[in-house]
Amino acid sequence: MKISIIGGAGYIGLITGLGLAQLGHKVTNIDIAEEKIKTLLNGKSPIYEEHIESVLENCLSSGNINFTTDPSDSISDSDIIIIAVGTPSNKGGDIDLTQIKSAIEQIKSNFKTYKVVVMKSTVPLDAVELMRQEFSKQHQEGKDFDIVSNPEFLREGKAVFDFFNPERIVIGTNSEKAFKLIEEMYRDLIDRKKGLDEISQENKKIPVLKTSLASAQMIKYGSNAFLATRISFINELAELCEYVGADINEVSKGMGLDSRIGESYLQPGPGFGGPCLEKDLNALNALAKNRGLFLKIFKEVLERNNVQIDEIIRKIKKSVSINESLITIWGLSFKAGTDDIRNSSSVRLIENLSTLNAKIKVFDPVATFNSPISKDLEIFEDPYLSVEDSDILVIMTEWPDFLEYDYSRIFQSMRGKNIVDARNILNSSFIKALGFSYSGIGVI
Ligand code: UGA
Repeated sequence: MKISIIGGAGYIGLITGLGLAQLGHKVTNIDIAEEKIKTLLNGKSPIYEEHIESVLENCLSSGNINFTTDPSDSISDSDIIIIAVGTPSNKGGDIDLTQIKSAIEQIKSNFKTYKVVVMKSTVPLDAVELMRQEFSKQHQEGKDFDIVSNPEFLREGKAVFDFFNPERIVIGTNSEKAFKLIEEMYRDLIDRKKGLDEISQENKKIPVLKTSLASAQMIKYGSNAFLATRISFINELAELCEYVGADINEVSKGMGLDSRIGESYLQPGPGFGGPCLEKDLNALNALAKNRGLFLKIFKEVLERNNVQIDEIIRKIKKSVSINESLITIWGLSFKAGTDDIRNSSSVRLIENLSTLNAKIKVFDPVATFNSPISKDLEIFEDPYLSVEDSDILVIMTEWPDFLEYDYSRIFQSMRGKNIVDARNILNSSFIKALGFSYSGIGVI
């Protein structure tokens, strides 16, 4: 099949395009970001992501993928157009549709044969309605075009794995013809006939769910909001655990063994970050508000997440006086496995500590700031140099690398012997035995 992806150098567009090209389709990834397109044509990925370089190499050498800034030829030739542009939040929490509108314009100006237009970007139904109205000015739905919502559930850092191992494929549309075409697009993935050699695949077929457009979008919003709710829930329970002498790691394990609850997204930490969970909760709040509804849970989940940074600061203050201290922070990205620092709890912490006049040293194995955010901040490429003379070490991202380091050496070079482990990744007994004062989340 011939497929065009608008927003093809962005996170979702790129992974989706490469995944579909690996399945054997002829894919053109279109993007206005010229530099990224050049980088991709040179066989390099503009994002840090496991497996991406090898799938890029496969697809460029098979000739199944092309990258371009020019939408015209590929859109008019394609059967399927996937919209994967960014959907940032406005101040009020609702979604800024600027990039979606530009994608609609690009499709309108290159509309020839029947097309299925697939919305991958996470947007409320209003955006789909807008698209329908715009296309319907010159074309007939069902005859010239159909619209599908096919949400993605890719996690940054595991996105290539997730593309080839989806737990479900949701196809939301009111057109049987469009449903069949999109199901066909995924056929070899659904039947596990094709994948990526280096990623092991389970044998069981992938469930395909046919829904209405509105339900497909709510499945996406609901999933992210539910994951965020679990994280806020466990962080709240962790706070209480500290006051009753319980250990949240044991509590979370014990709860997760109940199959009705399950183990995932019960890891306490510095609060959820990244470009998705908070944005989607804000979008649900904005949707409710615009419809005159007074919903409560989404707001509380966000509120709990906002105070989680105060919890970390409280722990730091228990050990040192912030404005007189040298504080080392390990981890900048919003989670391990990615260089993405958007909406990262670590960045939030750094901003807060900077306003409290702390001197800060930062180390992350992969991520960095594009531009310096404070004169009192130093970035290190060596973990050991980053802790020299520090009063306290705060671990904000769960990089496995942090488990490999020599903590006796770290103990020797630090001035204060304090560790706040905001991810509960270290072996606390071992760290305490070295002489550190250790503080995790929800543990005593
Ligand atoms: C999330 C969803 O997990 C994906 O399914 C979805 O496709 C994606 O948003 C999206 O909408 O595009 P992602 O933003 O990559 O994926 O991040 P997650 O892996 O879900 O983690 C989000 C945050 O929660 C991170 O800061 C992570 O450290 C934190 N987290 C996660 C916890 O604090 N505890 C947990 O137990 C799990």
